[in-house]
Amino acid sequence: MNIRDEVLKELENHKGDYISGGQLSKELSVSRNAVWKAINRLKKDGYEIQAIPNRGYCLSPDNDILSPQSISKYLKHSIKIEVVSSVSSTNTVLKEKAAKGAPHGTVLVARKQTSGRGRMGKEFFSPVNTGLYFSILLRPDFPAAESLFLTTSAAVAVAKAIEDVSRQKAGIKWVNDVYIENKKVCGILTEAAFNIETNCLDYAVVGIGINLCPPQEGMPEELRDIATTVFQDMETCAGKSSVLMAHILDYFFDYYDDFPNQSYVEEYINRSIVVGKNIRLIDGNQKTDALALEMDKKCRLKVRLDDGTEKWICAGEVSIKLETP
Ligand code: BTN
Repeated sequence: MNIRDEVLKELENHKGDYISGGQLSKELSVSRNAVWKAINRLKKDGYEIQAIPNRGYCLSPDNDILSPQSISKYLKHSIKIEVVSSVSSTNTVLKEKAAKGAPHGTVLVARKQTSGRGRMGKEFFSPVNTGLYFSILLRPDFPAAESLFLTTSAAVAVAKAIEDVSRQKAGIKWVNDVYIENKKVCGILTEAAFNIETNCLDYAVVGIGINLCPPQEGMPEELRDIATTVFQDMETCAGKSSVLMAHILDYFFDYYDDFPNQSYVEEYINRSIVVGKNIRLIDGNQKTDALALEMDKKCRLKVRLDDGTEKWICAGEVSIKLETP
């Protein structure tokens, strides 16, 4: 870690409190001048740091610049996190890193995406500093057939973390959209490379996009009725994105480490906002109305079609649309 990053780590760990230049220079074994230079560099990067003679430096509690330091201090798991200002798509870039050998557990976070991608080739709206956009690289050693677990457990992790930080109730729309009050707040895109010899995945990339607060100019027209945000404005969101991100990662890796027990499934089923609702199954160009009846431990959904026939559907076969009330 360079001096700037070490100073940032200390400031993050004392966020809202003053820490003297002397203490910083002692703890990091560098000169006071080096500390001062690092502080200036951080200020240039947009960090709000107060400096008071005889008291030292204080990182504003509302500072919400995502960094490995700001996230790691809340993390229970040890995770390698990279944060970049802007990227085409965290999924695309992390897949490239995976192909070059990046290790299991690598997390790539971006403050904005220029070509954020959703499921079914859709675009994912990813403006600067108003959302969380990140991808997790996994090298699973379980059969590829079990990989739905990655997406569904990620949805539970997001829903629980949102509740932790915002006290808003979060539900899951099968398969992997997280909803608050009937509007989508998070989408998940899982992509993978299959190894035909081992019948396992070479790697999987779980990409998570969360709307944190509305951009200054408001949500785009086409999203206003269907999408929402975790926080109502930037002020309420201030200082919370790192803690939200850390909670998601901790829940996710708890479930991952506990994989054979699938401890999250009950929570997934309980959070379903689909069961008992009229839905529309979308399979390419074909659309069929149905009633969602129940979900099983494999997260398959049982539906009754209009002609009375009942069937189980699996993720990937179809997508669904909730009937508008
Ligand atoms: C969907 O709603 O259809 C899925 C959206 C997934 C968006 C996330 S944001 C981080 C990662 N990078 C992407 O390009 N997509 C995922």
